[in-house]
Amino acid sequence: MKALITNKLTEHSVTPEAVYLNRRQWLKASAVGAAGLLAPSMKAVEVAPGDDPAPPWLQSQNKQASPSSFSSTEKLTPYEYVTGYNNFYEFGTGKDDPEKYGQDFNPHPWQVTVSGLAEGTGTFDLEDLLKGLAVEERIYRLRCVEAWSMVIPWLGVPMAALLKRFKPLSGAQYVTFESVYRPEEMPGQRSFFGAIDYPYIEGLRMDEAMHPLTLMATGVYGRSLPNQNGAPLRLVVPWKYGFKSIKSIRKITFTDRAPQTTWQKSNAREYGFYANVNPAVDHPRWSQAEERRLPSTLFASNRVPTLPFNGYADAVGSLYRGMDLTKYY
Ligand code: MTE
Repeated sequence: MKALITNKLTEHSVTPEAVYLNRRQWLKASAVGAAGLLAPSMKAVEVAPGDDPAPPWLQSQNKQASPSSFSSTEKLTPYEYVTGYNNFYEFGTGKDDPEKYGQDFNPHPWQVTVSGLAEGTGTFDLEDLLKGLAVEERIYRLRCVEAWSMVIPWLGVPMAALLKRFKPLSGAQYVTFESVYRPEEMPGQRSFFGAIDYPYIEGLRMDEAMHPLTLMATGVYGRSLPNQNGAPLRLVVPWKYGFKSIKSIRKITFTDRAPQTTWQKSNAREYGFYANVNPAVDHPRWSQAEERRLPSTLFASNRVPTLPFNGYADAVGSLYRGMDLTKYY
């Protein structure tokens, strides 16, 4: 992964006072007249229904999201950054490539194939997969291995609730996720100089996948996921480096051994299977002690200290008790 030095987005391209209104606030605002509640300088980033290309059932499931006690109260990263500064190599390696080149990708209809050590394997329509699962809003920090970070209001379903549907067998120790492979819609997959192999593969230990913080995201900022963020379904594991949070998932496989993940295959010395955020273990080419919280500029880099497990140590530290985290990085 290329380390990032500057940030192409300028302060002009963002709305500094942008506030995200969750559904309840939004409904309240519309009920009494938004003008009465919103200061004129504030712009709600709630996306107009016409701008969300997801099918109505998904839009409506996302709009029913309830708040979560796991949510951070930190200042949100503006919508323009969350959807304009991305890593999605299938669309190119530049930070603005996914938004630019992701627009020809069509994530609907969508099916997910579930296989391996589970009773309920098969190929499922997205709607059936998510039917009856309650969507939550989870405001999480996302810490990229490249040492930048954001605070993102995801929408999604707890991964445990989704995986239980397939009745994993007791031998299932790991779960593997695979991204979509569609070179005709994804220029990065057609490139001869691609940095990584496709399809993109990631995996979690079963107890990590079933942890209450682990989310299968279906939306962000009150709307369904834009293509550049991994439409229509992506993993979010907030205590791990962002590359674990695999996008546009087409396959889920329960296995008895850890898969070889994409970044491990590309460079095992630099990218491990666990990839827990850890300020004490540097990347071989840069320090992990601090991160740039976006938005940041050359003159105001907005550096903050990186926390063990990205600040979620109380919730997840016990998963790794007794493990040498310098070895299992
Ligand atoms: N998933 C796929 N399929 N391809 C990718 O290139 N990049 C990863 C992860 N998931 C990636 C992916 C990396 S390095 C990060 S930091 C996060 O997605 C970024 O998620 P975001 O663009 O929604 O912030």
